[in-house]
Amino acid sequence: MPSESPGNAAKVTIHSLAAKKKRGEPITMLTAYDYPTALAMDEAGIDVILVGDSVGMVVLGYENTLSVTMEDMLHHCKAVSRGARRAHRVGDMPFMSYQAAWPEAVRNAGRFLQEAGMDAVKLEGGREIAPTVKAIIAAGIPVMGHLGLTPQSLHKLGGWKVQATISAAARRLVEDAHALENAGCYAVVLEAVPERVAEIITRRLSIPVIGIGAGVACDGQVLVTNDLLGSFDRFTPKFVKRYADLRAIMSEAFAAYIADVGARRFPAPEHSYGMTDAEYEELLRELGTKSRKWQMAV
Ligand code: KIV
Repeated sequence: MPSESPGNAAKVTIHSLAAKKKRGEPITMLTAYDYPTALAMDEAGIDVILVGDSVGMVVLGYENTLSVTMEDMLHHCKAVSRGARRAHRVGDMPFMSYQAAWPEAVRNAGRFLQEAGMDAVKLEGGREIAPTVKAIIAAGIPVMGHLGLTPQSLHKLGGWKVQATISAAARRLVEDAHALENAGCYAVVLEAVPERVAEIITRRLSIPVIGIGAGVACDGQVLVTNDLLGSFDRFTPKFVKRYADLRAIMSEAFAAYIADVGARRFPAPEHSYGMTDAEYEELLRELGTKSRKWQMAV
């Protein structure tokens, strides 16, 4: 089979992700919202890049994800799809782009593939969205589910809280996971649920379960990249492991630039363009002549 991607690495598909689960190999997934980040992740060998609606909080500065629009998402998805050639690309459907009516949901899902180069879409919710999931899949669009702490239902859930900690809620979550699998989802994200509950769901589903704050037993892991890099620190959930402190590195670099410009240390000769002496002399001569002409004219 020819690969869609440059180099030797084969394009990651919903089928290769399913095969990873069968082989017991962890699936890696991160969020990206721009071209250079997608490029770096693709080169690093990430399996899945999610253009999450978390873009609203970590890039656009919104309070939560509810303000994110279809146009916001398509804009960022287009940038990511230019950078990610090998990774499987998932676009997050924003609040109110799929909840009101399934024909609208199908049309909006289609825009992620047709206009923004995504390979699949992600929706939040359980059994209540199963008919919508089926309708989108019937249009040929793969759907990833998202259960547990679903940020678009933040107000219904009463805040950023770990979910399914009591057995009745955990049982409901297990049923919702089955409902999504039965509706045709090719994978499910489980966010902020007890490790033990996530392990049960991971064992019971035949599709990959990708955890974020759901323990190590899941088939794969996802994090919001700006949390991992430390470039967004308004709040940091317990489940985040910070691999860098980019915010501090960026502040240091900006302060050094400000100091250099203030002291005329930047730009140095190596950052400036030269001109031969001959051309320079000629220029001065021409300018001198011209200025004499102008003086005579007035
Ligand atoms: O929007 C997002 O980044 C997500 C992840 C947290 C899974 O949905």
